[in-house]
Amino acid sequence: MKKVRKAVFPVAGLGTRFLPATKAVPKEMLTVVDRPILQYVVDEAREAGIEQLIFVTGRNKGVIEDYFDVQYELNDTLTQRGKTKELQLLDSMQPTAGHASFTRQQLPLGLGHAVWCARELVGNEPFAVLLPDVIMQAERGCLASMIDLYGTSGGNILSVEEVNPREANKYGIVGRAGDVGNGFKIDGMVEKPKVEEAPSNLAISGRYILQPEIFDILETQERGAGNEIQLTDGMLKLADAQDFFGYVFTGKTYDCGSKEGFIKANVAYAKADDAIWSKVRDDLAELVG
Ligand code: UTP
Repeated sequence: MKKVRKAVFPVAGLGTRFLPATKAVPKEMLTVVDRPILQYVVDEAREAGIEQLIFVTGRNKGVIEDYFDVQYELNDTLTQRGKTKELQLLDSMQPTAGHASFTRQQLPLGLGHAVWCARELVGNEPFAVLLPDVIMQAERGCLASMIDLYGTSGGNILSVEEVNPREANKYGIVGRAGDVGNGFKIDGMVEKPKVEEAPSNLAISGRYILQPEIFDILETQERGAGNEIQLTDGMLKLADAQDFFGYVFTGKTYDCGSKEGFIKANVAYAKADDAIWSKVRDDLAELVG
């Protein structure tokens, strides 16, 4: 079984829910406490042992490339000022030279199309996809646990989360067959089912391990919901030929692509940092009433 070494981060979307900020700042670069949303997601990939980070960017996303580069002048100034702690922090986050690649999705035609744009950089091996605006907070990262499952199951793996069954019609829902390793075999996927027809309350969330055959499917995939080329539509076809497994994530997920998720993430990560929380908790409590 080939190891999962590469991860794709599709960061080419327009982020219209965050206008006007996203006129100039990519949504993935908005900060949760002190670092961009994208940094949390990259950290999750690195914790899982991912070696190659592949960013699918678009127009106005150049700042993402700069962010993952060494800022020589900044480092020099920090050194002169004796800011060792800050230097160490930057160094710990720096991808090794050659381990971050960038390609462009020329038009935002959808998530499936963005993933397809990474085909040459991924090549013929299994790879992870992490939605870069979804932060998943857990003691052990979601992707690391999915790679544990992959070691037992192989195939394709989706992170799923329990949702309110009455809201199953808002999500891609999977059917649950027998247990495998720390997950289960998926028997059937359906996009936004009627509540009474949903095979379970397990909704596909933002992490995937996929086999490279998905690229051939995405190449000819027609536009689906929202007039976009959807990754889910491609996975549904791949599931006719290959096995899919699910990993039930039980940590906290913040969809930072929405204002409410972004605000909750800021509070949750502030709360996880004693130094910050001790300074803001009383004010926040007063604000909330
Ligand atoms: P979203 O649908 O949440 O992002 O896609 P969006 O389209 O940028 O946001 P809104 O709805 O207009 O506010 C999930 C992820 O997929 C990427 C986005 O950048 C986001 O991180 N994406 C989406 C692409 O890379 N290309 C696309 O064509 C669409």
